[in-house]
Amino acid sequence: MNDSDLAIVILAAGKGTRMKSVTHKVLHPLGGRPMLHHLLDTVAPLNPAKKVIVVGADKEQVETSVGTIADIVVQEPQLGTGHAVQMTKDLLKGFDGDVLILYGDVPLITEATMQKMIDTRKESGAAVVVLGFRPKDTKAYGRLKVNDDGNLDAIIEFKDANDEERTITLCNSGIMSMTGEHMFDLLDALDDNNAAKEFYLTDVVEIANKKDLSCAVVEADEQEVMGINSRGELAEAEAVFQNNRRQYFMAEGVTLVDPETVYFSYDTVIGRDVTIGPNVVFGPGCRVSDNVTIHPFCHIEGATIGRGSSIGPFARLRPDAELGNGVKVGNFVEIKKAEIEDGAKVNHLSYVGDARVGKNANIGAGTITCNYDGYFKYHTDIGEGAFIGSNSALVAPVTIGDGAIVGAGSVVTMAVEADALAIARGKQRALGGWASNFRTNQQNKKNKKG
Ligand code: UD1
Ligand code: MG
Repeated sequence: MNDSDLAIVILAAGKGTRMKSVTHKVLHPLGGRPMLHHLLDTVAPLNPAKKVIVVGADKEQVETSVGTIADIVVQEPQLGTGHAVQMTKDLLKGFDGDVLILYGDVPLITEATMQKMIDTRKESGAAVVVLGFRPKDTKAYGRLKVNDDGNLDAIIEFKDANDEERTITLCNSGIMSMTGEHMFDLLDALDDNNAAKEFYLTDVVEIANKKDLSCAVVEADEQEVMGINSRGELAEAEAVFQNNRRQYFMAEGVTLVDPETVYFSYDTVIGRDVTIGPNVVFGPGCRVSDNVTIHPFCHIEGATIGRGSSIGPFARLRPDAELGNGVKVGNFVEIKKAEIEDGAKVNHLSYVGDARVGKNANIGAGTITCNYDGYFKYHTDIGEGAFIGSNSALVAPVTIGDGAIVGAGSVVTMAVEADALAIARGKQRALGGWASNFRTNQQNKKNKKG
């Protein structure tokens, strides 16, 4: 434990049945990374002393994904949200700082909201702070009963609510912060005397009030607390995530010609004055420098693009494509694990993989680096200012020296010296009159057959 006075508990023991998946619900990706990791990343700047994830029988998957970032405890059987938090007792006993309880399937909550809950708890001296929201459709959410003084008196689960209580529009997101000082006393007082026969975490509010401890509410946006229980809700959350990223990048000086059609990953980095055309998808691990133009219909993943470069339309940059400044990659070009140095051009219909393309080199249309023999991958090295003629196959491992020229249609299997010309194709023959003789003969044959 560090000396921070904050601990995080993430509840993730629910079965996630509606996802119909062998993958644990909280490991389904959002913006290219598991939703659980969104939460872990959002809490990181708050520097919690402890992070505990409560899981069910499927512990291994979560453990493998999380490693040593957090502690994991098992809740088996699952007797309710209150029972889930009780499972953290061994790890949090004696901790008297604030405990923030999050849901693994509510991944879009922001750091600012968490901070507001922590601040509210400290400033108000409340024992419990609940994150409320006012959804368009109040569905079966728990309802927050706030009195005239602003104190939260109780959370009424929908199943247990009467008609009047069901008209309350302020709902429980489930997210809560408590002072560790009282947490286990409050949890120990829970019972399962309710419609669901569960130990409701929400009951700590009434219990605290009975002990003359106050409870407070912080409100959040509906989108921020949306829960993911099905593939449909996963897609809705993805849409919210993407929209947030689009707004963020535009605010940071990126032009998105048709924002709704551009997709980012959680870790996409984009500089200033970058223009991105319609239908561009960024997979994880992309860094785009200033003044880059990405034309429509590009798929970019694990790639770095240097200043002033131009990509696409219809280009595919795969992991470890490292493009320098002023590089041009044109249509129907695929680049994988290759360094394309400053000013180099790969403009049409090419595959460049496991290669270096030197500064200002020009790769002609239809060039292929033949990097794979079915067993191993081999490297192609193309020197500065080299010119590769169209439709050439460079059979790796092979080196093309600085300033060398490869004639169009060559199959290059041997090193080409700097400034040399390499032509590796059948020699052209010219047979005068051959074509017209051929046509005359064939026509005669056809006439005879009648
Ligand atoms: C809970 C709240 C409800 C709130 C709603 C918001 C309670 C009693 N009710 O209801 O007021 O409006 O969330 O979505 O807390 N979990 C466990 N172990 C369990 C049960 C649940 O870890 O035994 C985890 C689930 O994985 C999930 C979260 O807790 O992440 C919420 O569980 P869920 O069953 O969805 O609670 P609701 O009944 O929807
Ligand atoms: Mg729920």
